[in-house]
Amino acid sequence: MDFDLTPEQESIRKLARDFADREIAPGARERDRAEKFPADVLRKMAPVGFLGGPIPEQYGGMGVDYISHAIITEEIGRADSSVRTTLSVQISLVELTILKWGSEEQKRTWLPRLCKGEVIACFGLTEPAVGSDATRLQATAQNDGEGWVLNGRKTWISNGSVAKLALVFANADPSKGHKGITAFLIDREKSPYGSQAIHGKLGLRSSDSSELILDNVRVPDSARLGEIGEGFKIAMSALDSGRYSVASGAVGTAQAAIDASVAYATQREAFGKPIAGHQLVQEMISDMVVDTEAARLLVWRAGDLKNKGKPNTRETSIAKLFATEMAQRVTDNAIQIHGGYGFSDEFPVERFWRDARVNRLYEGTTQIQKLIIGRFTTGIDAIG
Ligand code: CAA
Repeated sequence: MDFDLTPEQESIRKLARDFADREIAPGARERDRAEKFPADVLRKMAPVGFLGGPIPEQYGGMGVDYISHAIITEEIGRADSSVRTTLSVQISLVELTILKWGSEEQKRTWLPRLCKGEVIACFGLTEPAVGSDATRLQATAQNDGEGWVLNGRKTWISNGSVAKLALVFANADPSKGHKGITAFLIDREKSPYGSQAIHGKLGLRSSDSSELILDNVRVPDSARLGEIGEGFKIAMSALDSGRYSVASGAVGTAQAAIDASVAYATQREAFGKPIAGHQLVQEMISDMVVDTEAARLLVWRAGDLKNKGKPNTRETSIAKLFATEMAQRVTDNAIQIHGGYGFSDEFPVERFWRDARVNRLYEGTTQIQKLIIGRFTTGIDAIG
């Protein structure tokens, strides 16, 4: 096993870091204050290729490997988790899912436009009454002979209001339980549906989180992704990609918290010397570094399996669980090091802490990751 990055991966890290420092980080506080969706950032990001990192070049992407994908996601997460979330949904939940499950026509129709940022996409799984137990979706899809009619409500859908493409899961045969769940690619221009943005969030304030309102939304059969009844499997495989991206982003947030804390602690003085010279502050910094580096290696292990095309649900859940919990610890320590200043948005660490919170909830809570890991370890299913 080689822990060195290849020259290509190093140059991708540099490209992503320079872009994030120049184009993303400077506006993050103002976007957060104004709850302003980062459309301008996405417009600049598209020509660099970051909206289609792991998508093959033939479909308009950069064709990078999964470690590089994690590195780009980490660097963007270091600058702004709201931008990173938008990207995680676009690439990991939607693009990679179309790449894996889509027909050639669906890939050619959607992937180049998604990679160019002409189309922003969302992933419609969660419903007002259904979060962790995704097998029990209440949204329905009825085939009336001419196509499908979708009804239901979705909530906490990242990119929901701005998306022109919605990957939506609905049950085509509720009598079959999760084996009736079917996936659809809804082209919003051709099959309009409603949305309502959610405001007043604790964190990720400049990302878009919305409800989707599906009232008799008609889609043709060609909008179906995969087979009838294959939707739950498609959703789970999408989450194997999405959780990897969330874990990578959490590593970026933690790294940002370390960088800010070191900058602060080496110039702020107390008791006659920089606070970085006090042992208890160094202990916090060292805990933050160990946590972050351990999480990064867990992410890269899952990425290595993805590169090899091997099963990685267990390793992705371990990485997601550890990285998201550690980012909360690390950002909390960062506030502690900043003292009272850490409690104000004059410094970025309070935003890092607020933004870190949702990682432990979305794309499968910490508890769901533990149940997945526990099931792999014991062979006993404690879910449901
Ligand atoms: N890949 C492919 N198929 C999979 C899979 C995977 N990783 N995991 C499970 N499956 C398949 C199983 O093989 C099984 O297939 P069969 O029915 O053919 O046997 C089927 O799916 C059912 O699987 P389980 O028995 O594992 O289902 P379960 O009910 O025991 O557990 C769960 C499922 C793990 C709890 C799952 O419901 C889950 O992950 N819940 C959390 C939901 C979640 O993460 N939501 C996030 C919302 S998206 C979001 O947050 C996006 C956003 O906008 C921010």
